[in-house]
Amino acid sequence: MTQSGQPTPLEARASSALSGCVRVPGDKSISHRALILGALAVGETQISGLLEGEDVLNTAKAMSSLGAKVERTGEGTWSVHGVGVGGFATPEAPLDFGNSGTGCRLAMGAVAGCPIEATFDGDASLRGRPMRRILDPLALMGARVSTQADGGRLPMTLQGARDPLPIVYRTPVASAQIKSAVLLAGLSAPGTTTVIENEASRDHTELMLAHFGAQVTSVKEGAHGRKITLTGQPELHGATVVVPADPSSGAFPIVAALIVEGSDIVLTDVMTNPLRTGLFTTLREMGASIDESDRRGDAGEPMAQFRVRASKLKGVEVPAERAPSMIDEYLVLAVAAAFAEGTTTMRGLQELRVKESDRLEATAAMLRVNGVKVEISGDDMIVEGKGFVPGGGLVATHMDHRIAMSALVMGLASDTPVKVDDTAFIATSFPDFIPMMRGMGAEFA
Ligand code: S3P
Repeated sequence: MTQSGQPTPLEARASSALSGCVRVPGDKSISHRALILGALAVGETQISGLLEGEDVLNTAKAMSSLGAKVERTGEGTWSVHGVGVGGFATPEAPLDFGNSGTGCRLAMGAVAGCPIEATFDGDASLRGRPMRRILDPLALMGARVSTQADGGRLPMTLQGARDPLPIVYRTPVASAQIKSAVLLAGLSAPGTTTVIENEASRDHTELMLAHFGAQVTSVKEGAHGRKITLTGQPELHGATVVVPADPSSGAFPIVAALIVEGSDIVLTDVMTNPLRTGLFTTLREMGASIDESDRRGDAGEPMAQFRVRASKLKGVEVPAERAPSMIDEYLVLAVAAAFAEGTTTMRGLQELRVKESDRLEATAAMLRVNGVKVEISGDDMIVEGKGFVPGGGLVATHMDHRIAMSALVMGLASDTPVKVDDTAFIATSFPDFIPMMRGMGAEFA
């Protein structure tokens, strides 16, 4: 249930072959970043294909509360007139980021580099998520938290640094949100700000900073890591951003097509940045028929058309180092694993515990209540695939859009219907999920 409304349950039933050609909504990560960098740039930024989900709309509101002029000019097209690096103004009211960790944490970084004070808040899910991982590096740069709820949680008031310090920061976990917060604060610092990560996380912030005119370099660090260096106090120029379709949203129709017999669907403009495509690698290892064509790119972000056909899947082992490139996709991968033959072992999932919900527990519960055998062992999840799912369960979504969508996908191929207790949070990332899936033949009631 969203802050105001009633819960909206829904049931997914065994469906006949899915078909059709769709464009899932714009990438959420890129949409947040386009609004934030547009707000920090001088001149106009024109965005097309922006995800108009609740999470991103909250970021748009926050940027306008901080002084940028943010306007919707058409369907998915937005114009942002920015204030320049360091130019945010103290907002009159608390900034409400709803369900969105990304919007909140990136905005904290941007605010930390400005001599202003802003209060950050969100819904019950976001209020439960850890913020210290962001505040620790921002404090090293000179930002201060003046009020906060217990344990480094929202709501909290952040005082940005008058003279931010450039730092060299090694992130304690692979997190694009931590990296991005430091880089955004580093925009206002003199000299160079460096972030080192042991495991590379999504690099949309770096790519987009370069697109807006900043000097930023990224080099390999160790076996799987990166070292990113930003030259501070650039003049960011407004830019044109074309937002490709979100592979994390595409994951739902893709897995649905793989498990519903006879399906054959096409998804256009799917972003294929290699730091986001771990799910597709894994599904292909499981035997999925996913063909890519029409490869192209914009502003450093590659995209392609995907054709997905129903496939016999087999269980696989997913290595821990792949986790950052598919961190939001384990829920729907677990659904695919349940329909596969054999055991799928997913390793190194500790970060799933601090997402919109505790996704490790919630995913296991989603499968168990539908008759699938699953085990959590430390930070690993092990799913026993039998090639079919009995279904018949009621899934608790815990204010988490991806649990709701994963469970509904599962119900499209399970023996008996799968019900979710609330679909309202799907609107945070994929507002058209239900009608789009119905348009391809999904049976929801
Ligand atoms: C995101 C980073 C990831 C991901 C989230 C979006 C981003 O979070 O789970 O949905 O846009 O930077 P972490 O940085 O916490 O891994």
